[in-house]
Amino acid sequence: MNNRIFNFNAGPATLPLEVLQEVQSELLNYKQTGMSILEISHRTKPYEAINAEAEANMKELLGLGDNYRVLFLQGGASTQFATIPMNFLADGGTADYILTGVWSEKALKEAKLFGNTHVAATTADGNYKRIPRMDEIQLSDKPVYVHITSNNTIYGTQWDELPSFGSVPLIADMSSDILNKPFAAENFSLIYAGAQKNLGPSGVTVVIIRKDLLEDNPKTISAMMRYETHAKNDSMYNTPPVFSVYMLNLVLRWLKAQGGVKAIGERNIQKATLVYDTIDQSGGFYRGHADKDSRSLMNVTFRLPNEELEKTFAKEAEQASLIGLKGHRSVGGLRASMYNAMSVAGCQALKEFMIEFQRKNG
Ligand SMILES: Cc1ncc(COP(=O)(O)O)c(C=O)c1O
Repeated sequence: MNNRIFNFNAGPATLPLEVLQEVQSELLNYKQTGMSILEISHRTKPYEAINAEAEANMKELLGLGDNYRVLFLQGGASTQFATIPMNFLADGGTADYILTGVWSEKALKEAKLFGNTHVAATTADGNYKRIPRMDEIQLSDKPVYVHITSNNTIYGTQWDELPSFGSVPLIADMSSDILNKPFAAENFSLIYAGAQKNLGPSGVTVVIIRKDLLEDNPKTISAMMRYETHAKNDSMYNTPPVFSVYMLNLVLRWLKAQGGVKAIGERNIQKATLVYDTIDQSGGFYRGHADKDSRSLMNVTFRLPNEELEKTFAKEAEQASLIGLKGHRSVGGLRASMYNAMSVAGCQALKEFMIEFQRKNG
């Protein structure tokens, strides 16, 4: 299909073409039901099957067993910023936050509404261009949990090796890098992610939670805010976002067919290397925002010699069918988001465009 462009937007983001084609092929008549998936009641066998398969696929891809549940919720990752402290930060405990960008700052701000918090490390100095070293992290006395953001979408930084703090529950916002490469998911008590970057369309938020965290969610908070409610009802306590969960499941099937997380991780390294090498070999024409040891495989952030050139770059790239490259205002410059569904060909095209742009303007 040659009228597809290369979409480098940070999210909602590009989706696998095979998935879109499958959706299209069964849109009018889902599995001989005589209706579209968009019209199906969630209290039916076809939807229950989708929901169950999506949970199983997610656990399989993460290598998790029966001691975890996968919930499909609404409200975006932003709602999780509040739901997490509502469920776990009661009774005078303290929650520790490691600040690596605006999204972790927002998570902290919400937690402050519900209890005591402690900043265990921050790399705000230097505009979040790196991930803290382990020796910079100072936990509070007995944190009820530690919260991290595994990939910082705006700054283009990512934890290369994810931390672990022994028996202290570890919680991660993985909105922009879930399933991007292999990692020890069993080190986490809770992982959450809005789907619209690496998992599917917007409208569903995935929460992967260890079962022991479902045991005593406070009864004083609303049923919709308690993880326990959604786990007991297999994410169908209220009407779920049927279409988003259906598509998410197709993306998970696609990922399995690609060879799973290990294979996609290798491809993501190959893709990121194409662009980072171009930056590093440009003699300073392109300057990366992130420190080299904190570089993200998912979002590549870079500057040009001046803002005028940055504007021209984004405009001309768009004319060359490379869209969504304008950076976030808090970093400026350019950002190429290259989630799992972005092809090697897309990154190769970006590399060639960058080299040619430098030749003309350098
Ligand atoms: C790391 C991270 N966390 C949270 C969010 C907010 O997600 P949502 O829009 O689903 O609330 C984003 C959005 O870009 C993000 O990149």
